[in-house]
Amino acid sequence: MIGLRRLFYLAVRSGGMGLNMPENRVVEDVRLPRHIGIIMDGNGRWAAKRGLPRTAGHKQGAKVVGDITRCCRDMGIQYLTLFAFSTENWSRPKSEVDGIMDLLREYLRETEKYQDENVRTCFIGERTLLAQDLQDRMKKVEEDSAGHTGLCLNIALNYGGRDEIIHATRQIAELVKSGAILSTDIDDDFVSSCLYTAGQPDPDLIIRPSGEQRLSNFMLWQAAYSELVFMDVLWPDFTPKRLKQALSLYADRSRRFGGL
Ligand code: FPP
Repeated sequence: MIGLRRLFYLAVRSGGMGLNMPENRVVEDVRLPRHIGIIMDGNGRWAAKRGLPRTAGHKQGAKVVGDITRCCRDMGIQYLTLFAFSTENWSRPKSEVDGIMDLLREYLRETEKYQDENVRTCFIGERTLLAQDLQDRMKKVEEDSAGHTGLCLNIALNYGGRDEIIHATRQIAELVKSGAILSTDIDDDFVSSCLYTAGQPDPDLIIRPSGEQRLSNFMLWQAAYSELVFMDVLWPDFTPKRLKQALSLYADRSRRFGGL
């Protein structure tokens, strides 16, 4: 069987990525990220361009989620984190917030039905502020998919990078206060183990469509050495081809992690 990395290599070589690559380009070792984070941005602009309400953009954006998840799974990506709702998004009009929550309900209902996708779904963020029925569905989907091995999909919901660090800091302060650990026990790994993403690798690649070039409170701790790819496409228009374009850019990056 041809390995997934090999398939990716062949796709790059055959121009299957839709990029302007020289014909004779030799890609000896195409590096695939283990973990991809995506800031799903541009739904509102997509809708405005069509004279539609913002919720129509979110609805179209929700449709893209399945395609991109399956594409990541099929390529052998191990972790995908999608930023669905930030701790700051509550400040949007109630009708828009309710619309996004309804889309999440619909998505969870669909996910409950299709347990044969081999995707493990996890939620990161402060879930206790979400409606109880949503929390119950999230728990059920997490439990039902816990044994799936294909891809771990993190949906960041009521998530903020700063909020996550505050949450971890409080846990650590309690541990020090109770004498369970010494302050000198706190290192990178210890802090990582107190985040919502405990046990997962940091994202190697963070993609932000829509042309905006910032992290907007997404995975602030974990993004320390992530490669960032900003793309001029709105999330509802994002396709597997665009994802592969970002992967190709990632494969060309030289990652030194502060070394030489
Ligand atoms: C940012 O675009 C997008 C959001 C705040 C919501 C993202 C939600 C979804 C894609 C749907 C639900 C998710 C799942 C996982 C089913 P924006 O509204 O800020 O766009 P703009 O910058 O163009 O206004």
